[in-house]
Amino acid sequence: MTQQPKVLIFDSGVGGLSVYKEIAACLPQLDYYYLFDNAAYPYGELERQTLLERVNKLVSAMVEKHQIDLVVIACNTASTIVLPSLRELLTIPVVGVVPAIKPASVLASKAVGLIATPATVKREYTHELIRNFSQNKTVEMLGSTRLVDIAEEKLRGQAVSLEEMAQLLAPLANKIDVAVLGCTHFPLIKEEIQTVLGSQVMLVDSGEAIARRVKDLLALNESNETSGGREIYSSAPPWQEDALNQSLTELGFSPVRHFHLEI
Ligand code: DGL
Repeated sequence: MTQQPKVLIFDSGVGGLSVYKEIAACLPQLDYYYLFDNAAYPYGELERQTLLERVNKLVSAMVEKHQIDLVVIACNTASTIVLPSLRELLTIPVVGVVPAIKPASVLASKAVGLIATPATVKREYTHELIRNFSQNKTVEMLGSTRLVDIAEEKLRGQAVSLEEMAQLLAPLANKIDVAVLGCTHFPLIKEEIQTVLGSQVMLVDSGEAIARRVKDLLALNESNETSGGREIYSSAPPWQEDALNQSLTELGFSPVRHFHLEI
């Protein structure tokens, strides 16, 4: 059997799994490594410099250890600052995930909602995306860490309270007709967001575009081949590890292993 490219997907938590699902759906034959920096979760409340140092160190160590061929920073919060330094450090392609403001602005007739982490809505990178790609549509921004936590809980089998979600999303109610899921955790609670915002609001995320980008960079065709390897690593022991492992098994991963690095 020929050796398949190795792809590393990185996030602070389980959010990047929403990106993994899109990539693996069209390229199941690849070997996937997933690393999440739960020791420093949530990234949406982390100081910029700390985030930069952690991502650079963790990702380069993982790339070296497993001889990775391509990295996806499946985290909007990290991608808005780490991409230039990571691309300088590594010799392999680095794909980032940033809020899909451009397609959302084209689709909207009223206004766009950007649902992201508190850090992403503050970042200059995000404001520049809005200036460049949404000049004639208002963008209402909502930063929430609690929504990120809800996605983490859902992946551990906990029930999602629609009442709580409605309170969190209330600032966007009746104001927008397109919502950007600007945090990779949010596609994991997409159905609940849709229920709360109503079917008249279109939800947009970056997952499919990222999958296409990975396919192009690796110069591969879509495949029905049998799956390659699936390994997942965390920077600290995850909470409710058994419940988490159950969801991970359903996604084809073996149980979480610990990737320890002094940072
Ligand atoms: N999943 C991440 C993102 O796309 C960050 C979540 C967090 O750790 O705050 O922004």
